[in-house]
Amino acid sequence: MSAEPADRLAESLLAFWAEAGVDALLLDEPFDRIEAGRIQPPRPVERKPASVTAHPAARTASSANDEAAVEQARTLAAGAPDLSALREVIEAFDGCTLKFEGATRSVFYRGRDDAPLMVIGEGPGAEEDARGEPFVGRAGQLLDRMLEAAGLKDRVFITNSVFWRPPGNRNPTPQEQAVCAPFLERAIALVQPRMLLLVGAPSTKAMLKRDEGILSLRGRWFDWKSADGQFECPAMPTLHPAFLLRQPAAKKKAWSDLITLTERLDRPQRPSEA
Ligand code: URA
Repeated sequence: MSAEPADRLAESLLAFWAEAGVDALLLDEPFDRIEAGRIQPPRPVERKPASVTAHPAARTASSANDEAAVEQARTLAAGAPDLSALREVIEAFDGCTLKFEGATRSVFYRGRDDAPLMVIGEGPGAEEDARGEPFVGRAGQLLDRMLEAAGLKDRVFITNSVFWRPPGNRNPTPQEQAVCAPFLERAIALVQPRMLLLVGAPSTKAMLKRDEGILSLRGRWFDWKSADGQFECPAMPTLHPAFLLRQPAAKKKAWSDLITLTERLDRPQRPSEA
């Protein structure tokens, strides 16, 4: 029996979402939000009065809990002398609510500790959550193939704007990104990459605080500066590989971005840039 048009429409819509990585309407495990609200608030931290020098990420955090969690993340991140200490601190951190919404572990980074290029995606998906490494699913495999073709495979540090999987692969919220930002900034300060590749709209928005769409920002250079002003480097937004899997025609644009970036990375550095 042939399917009714409405069934076909529903099937096609579901296939579209599955392709986009939305593989669950429900969390993997039952989740009692009322109970969670009682027992799993971000770990209590001593509140400091807001000051004009507050971390910019904290300004986007909407609630007192978010602000306290950002503050706690800043303190913990600043105390991590290296990437393995930072990994431990992230693993133990309870201030990001994503940790209690179905993520099974934190996902920090893969790649070289002294990489000249840092790739920042939006957040772990199901595969990344299962393996504890960023960009290891289908989108990650496409990213790897592109990096390899551009001669960048062994020159990258790959991470995300949040370190726990958002449920159902939804985009991370600005609050979740703000809470993770001090850890990400600490990673950047420790790795000292020569440039950042911001993969997709959510990470671009979190890092550059710009409202234009990814299609107008991609392929352009922006100056990224850490909140404490201690570190700055050029950053280029590009299209997310999950988008490229759905829209193969857009690969040309992402490839052109990668070539522009590689050319700059390979250009001999002036002493002032070293
Ligand atoms: N998409 C991302 O943005 N990051 C990952 O780690 C995986 C998929």
